[in-house]
Amino acid sequence: MIEGPACYAELGKALEGRGTVVVSRDPAKVFPGAERTADLPAAVALAETLPWTGPTWITGGERIYAEGLPLCSKLFITRIHRDFPGDRFFPADWHRHFTKLAWSKDGEVDGLKYTFEVWERGQ
Ligand SMILES: NC(=O)c1ccc[n+]([C@@H]2O[C@H](COP(=O)([O-])OP(=O)(O)OC[C@H]3O[C@@H](n4cnc5c(N)ncnc54)[C@H](OP(=O)(O)O)[C@@H]3O)[C@@H](O)[C@H]2O)c1
Repeated sequence: MIEGPACYAELGKALEGRGTVVVSRDPAKVFPGAERTADLPAAVALAETLPWTGPTWITGGERIYAEGLPLCSKLFITRIHRDFPGDRFFPADWHRHFTKLAWSKDGEVDGLKYTFEVWERGQ
């Protein structure tokens, strides 16, 4: 799992059962339980050497997603059917990279309706 420092801080720790790589240029920040690199390409290279099976996931935030989308083969996206105020945004041009809706499923949790979608690159 590759993430930025704000995402790490929100979770408050490295999640168990998977390897975590935090991308940060600030040497003063520490990320217990996680590996760290100063840029995304190095994070991807490091993630692929970690002793965990399964795909490498890029889990944000904003700039990490923007830099990471061209590297990804699949996009897993959850659309919550309600508007929220926010100051970080998923890249608006994600459709340039992912044009094929492979799978989708509607759901509801605590009165919040959502649609979970898996997108792939087109031909
Ligand atoms: N609910 C969800 O599914 C979900 C998913 C993603 C994000 N989020 C939330 O959305 C917010 C995202 O905030 P954010 O976009 O500011 O988070 P972020 O990406 O986790 O952290 C931003 C920091 O990442 C570092 N960074 C970003 N791009 C970099 C690059 N190309 N190379 C090196 N370092 C880079 C910089 O920190 P340094 O100064 O340390 O270099 C930058 O200040 C967080 O609250 C997060 O928890 C939620």
